[in-house]
Amino acid sequence: MSYLLALDQGTSSSRSIIFDLAGNIVGSAQQEFRQIFPQPGWVEHDAMDIWQSQLATTRAVLEKTGIAPAEIAALGITNQRETTIVWNRKTGQPINHAIVWQDRRTADYCEQLRSHGHATAITQKTGLILDPYFSASKIKWILDHVPDARAQAERGELAFGTVDSWLAWQLSEGSLHVTDVSNASRTMLWNIHQACWDEELLELFQIPAAILPSVHASSHRYGASKLFGAAIPIAGIAGDQQAALFGQACFKPGMAKNTYGTGCFMLLHTGNQCASSANGLISTAACQVDSQPQYALEGSVFIGGAVVQWLRDGLKAIQNSTDVEQLAASVPDSGGVVFVPSFTGLGAPYWVPSAKGAILGLTRGTTVGHIARAALESIAFQSTALLQAMNRDAATPISELRVDGGASANNLLLQFQANLLGIPVIRPKVTETTALGAAYLAGLAVGVYKNIDECAQQWQEERRFLPTMSRDQANALMQEWEIAVGRVR
Ligand code: G3P
Repeated sequence: MSYLLALDQGTSSSRSIIFDLAGNIVGSAQQEFRQIFPQPGWVEHDAMDIWQSQLATTRAVLEKTGIAPAEIAALGITNQRETTIVWNRKTGQPINHAIVWQDRRTADYCEQLRSHGHATAITQKTGLILDPYFSASKIKWILDHVPDARAQAERGELAFGTVDSWLAWQLSEGSLHVTDVSNASRTMLWNIHQACWDEELLELFQIPAAILPSVHASSHRYGASKLFGAAIPIAGIAGDQQAALFGQACFKPGMAKNTYGTGCFMLLHTGNQCASSANGLISTAACQVDSQPQYALEGSVFIGGAVVQWLRDGLKAIQNSTDVEQLAASVPDSGGVVFVPSFTGLGAPYWVPSAKGAILGLTRGTTVGHIARAALESIAFQSTALLQAMNRDAATPISELRVDGGASANNLLLQFQANLLGIPVIRPKVTETTALGAAYLAGLAVGVYKNIDECAQQWQEERRFLPTMSRDQANALMQEWEIAVGRVR
C-alpha cells in the first residue's frame, strides 16, 4: 500500500495523478471535456462528461503505471469549486447541465438581493461577497427552471452537490452524498463561523435542506470506491484552491500561495481565525484535518490562464498555449497596451459582474506580440491587486508568494509578477500542488502520514524569482492598470 491517488477535476480538464509517499508524481492522465456556452455569460458542463472523463483518467493512470488498486492506500478528490450539480437520487441522473462557477446568469437576481439589503448579512454569515460566482443562486435557478424540480427537491428526491459530491456519489455507486468544509464554504449556504448549513440562508435562497450533502473535515474516511477492483478508501476532499494551499504546505497563518489556472486564486492562511476583509477579499474555510477549523482569505480572479486560451482559440494568435511566452518575449514591453480580460465580469477585489473585457492603448505600432505580452501581464496585474488587498487586510505584509498551476511554468510571467509585487515569487519542485494537497489529505486520514509536519518536510523550492524593477516603476504600472480597470467597470 504505497501510493496515493488524487482525482483533480478542474474547469477545463479532469486529471488523475498517482503519488508515491514521498510526494513524487509516479504517473498522471488527463482529459479535456466539453465546455458549453448556451448564451452570452452562461457556462455549463455536462455532469456526465465530468464523471466519464474523471473515470477514464483514473483507469488510464492505473493502467499506465501498472499500479494495482490494492497498492493505493487512499484517494483524495479535489475539484473546481462552486460549480452546481443537481441530480435525482434514484436514477443518479443530473436534472440539468452543471452550472459552472464562471456562469453569470444569476447576476440580476444577486443584484435584487443586494437592493433588498441582504448583502451584508450574507457576507457576515458566509464570508463571501454576494455574486453569481457562488452556488446558492445557481441552485435556485435550477429549482426554478427545471420542470417539477422544486417539488421533487422538497420531497427529498433530488441531491445537490459541488463537483466533489458528484464524484464521491459516482465513485461510491450512489452510497455517499458528502462534501467537505472547504467546498461547503463556497456554496453561500454554509455558516462559516458556526460550521453548519444556515437555515436563514436556505430560506432566503428558497432551497430545501433535503438536497444538501453531509459535511465533514477535508481529511476524513468518507467511504470507499469499489469501482477499480480492490476497495480504495475515499479519504480526502477539498476544493482545488484550498487543496493547493495545503499542497504548498502553507499550513501557518501568514503563508500565501497563488495558483495560475483558468483563473487565478490567491489564498492567505489565517489559521484558526476567520479574518474578514475590508478590501474585497472573501473568507473561506481552508482544509481541515481534525476538529479544528482552519481559515483563509482569498482573492479570486476569474480570467487568468484563460486569457491565453482566448489568444489561442478566440484570436488564433498562437497555436499552443505554451507559445505565448515566446510571442510575448518578441517585444521588450507591452508598448503601452493594457489588456483587462474581464470576459466573465471582474472578481476580487473589484466585483463587477457585468464588466466586459477591453484592450486599451492600441496604436498603429501595436503588434500581436504587444497584445500577447499585455495578456500575460494582465494575469500578474490582477494577482498584484489581490496581494495589495491582502496586505491592507493583514496585520503583517506577505513576505513571499508560493506559486503553482499551469501558467506558473511561464518564467516571463513569474518575473513580471515578482517585479510588480516587490517580494520573492517561489515555484516549488512539484507544481501539481492541488493534486498533492488532495493526496496528503487522504494520506493523513488513513495514517500514511502522522501529521502535517511530515507533509511540510516534503515541500521543496525549484526556482525563486526576485524583484528587479524599481518600486516607482512598479507602482506606475499598477496605476495604469487601475485606470484601465476603471474603464471597464
Ligand atoms: O473557484 C473556481 C476554481 O475552483 C476553479 O479552479 O483550477 O478549475 O480554474 P480551476
